Order: sequence, then structure tokens, then C-alpha cells
Amino acid sequence: MVVDNNIIEKIKALRKEKNAVIFAHYYQTSDIQAIADFIGDSLALSQKAAETTADIIVLAGVKFMAETVKILSPEKKVIIPDLMAGCSLADSCKKEDFEEFINDNPGRTVITYVNTTADIKALSDIACTSSNAKQIVESLHQDEKIIFGPDRNLGNYIKELTKRDILVWDGACHVHEQFSLDAILRMKKENPGSKIIAHPECEKPVRLVADYIGSTSGMLSFVSKDPGKVFIVVTEPGILYEMRKAEPEKIFIPVPPKYSMCGYNECNFMKLITLEKIYKSLKFEEPEVTVDASIIEWAAVPIKRMLEISAKLGL
Ligand code: 13P
Repeated sequence: MVVDNNIIEKIKALRKEKNAVIFAHYYQTSDIQAIADFIGDSLALSQKAAETTADIIVLAGVKFMAETVKILSPEKKVIIPDLMAGCSLADSCKKEDFEEFINDNPGRTVITYVNTTADIKALSDIACTSSNAKQIVESLHQDEKIIFGPDRNLGNYIKELTKRDILVWDGACHVHEQFSLDAILRMKKENPGSKIIAHPECEKPVRLVADYIGSTSGMLSFVSKDPGKVFIVVTEPGILYEMRKAEPEKIFIPVPPKYSMCGYNECNFMKLITLEKIYKSLKFEEPEVTVDASIIEWAAVPIKRMLEISAKLGL
């Protein structure tokens, strides 16, 4: 990737002048991860947002992540470099439909993945991320009945692990459902001794062949601890930048989408964010992410509950 040093210098100067920080998700391109003040999975981004002292937070990621930051830091200016950076998973759970689902199934604790709009968070009891979903479910009493949304793959995976009474919303991530099992099996055959590591948003057949299933940060710590040398990485390929930086001697192979023998299965929303857009958004302090104050009041409750449980468990 050709990196424009001039724009990097301009971003650094503006960031200092405006007391701004750049938070980036692991799925961002390597040039963005290289200049970010903080890189993390969705749990770490929300934990960091709760404690930052910056006046402006530029969120290099997708909109639900920026909304989560705004909900936790309503007094701060939160900017996303491209407002079109949405999320297919968040879009698969509309407020009216989810409200009906909750009303049709009364008496259940509503746990939602952070990959949701602020409206859905406002309807939830506890939020979770893929790093802590199992522990959040297990923090509830054994007999508590649960609604889990919006990801059907993560939800069903957690249901299998915990054996709890969980009703799972039928949503999905368009990237994680596009990984080719054929390609994964072919790569495994071509690389004897390699390990398959998959995000829990992947479909069950992929999860079944995986040696490790976990969040982006979980995958990162797995590849550092595991003695293996070659890893077939079944999540958005932006994560490869951090893996290669942390473990330069190891080999990380991205998996193509279905119906393709090669190539990267990228999230088109994550990849809408560019250095140029980060520069412009810092300069003009827009597009700003806003969440209605009445929604913030309700949406903050499940996120704070998640952060409290995570802190208690040392996650
Ligand atoms: P992580 O919680 O692992 O960062 O995953 C976020 C995400 O959006 C996956 O699609």
C-alpha cells in the first residue's frame, strides 16, 4: 500500500491542535491502524471510549461503534469519517421488528451484541461483544430466559456453549457469512499443520472445522500463544496487519468469499474509511455522530452493565 506521508503529518498536527484521538477497529486498512491512537476490538473500543479525556474522538470503524462511543461520552464530539460506514448486521435488526419480538416473548432478558443501532440498545438489558458474550450470558442465573440479537451465528454458538434457554434473532453479518468452506478446507490441505481460526459470526460449518473460535482480540492473542506457524484466518482481513506486526515469523492466510477461489473477503463498510477522509473529518469536525439524548439515557444502561460485568470478570 502506498502511504501519503504528507497527509499523515497533517492528521498528526490537527490531532494535536484539537486534542483529538483516533480510535480504529482491527478491520481498518493498515495505513489507518498505523496512525491510530488506539486499535481494538469492539469491546476494547467501548472500554477506551469510557475513559478518554480527548475533546474529539474520530472513530475509524463503522457507525454502531461511533454511536457506542457517543453514548458513553455524550459530552464529547464524536466523528466518523464516512457516515455511510454502516453494518449489515445492525441493519438486520430494525427497531419495530425487534420490539415486536421482545413483546411476543415476554419475561426474557434481552442481550444484544454491540453491533446494533442505538435504538436497539435502548430496548436491551445488557450489551455484549464477541469477546464477552459467553461470560455475559453466564453471569445471569441459570434459569433466566434470554433473547439474544442480532447475530444468529454468534447467538447459536453461545447457546451451544452455555446450554441456556436463548431465543436467537435471525440476523447476520454479510462478510462472515460469505467465507468459503471449500477454500478453507483446500487451504488446510495445502498447509498441513496449519490452524483454522474463525470469528463466531461465521456459519456453523466453518465453526465446526475451526481450531479456535473467538473475537478479533481473541484471535490475536491465540496466534501469539499458539506454537503453530501457519494460520488460516476466517474474519475480515484487516486483522492481518496486527497479526503480522505481532508475529512476523508466522504466516497468516486470508480466506476468500464463497464462489471465489482467491482474494479477500473485505467489509465494504469498514473500507469506506480512508486517511483522506480522516484528515477532512478532523479538519472540518464532521460528519458528527449524534444520538438523541432520550435514546442515550436508555442505550447507555446495557452498555454500562456490560462494562461493569466485564470489569468484574477482568475481561
Ligand atoms: P469484534 O468484537 O471481534 O471486534 O468484532 C466486531 C465485528 O464487527 C465483527 O463483525
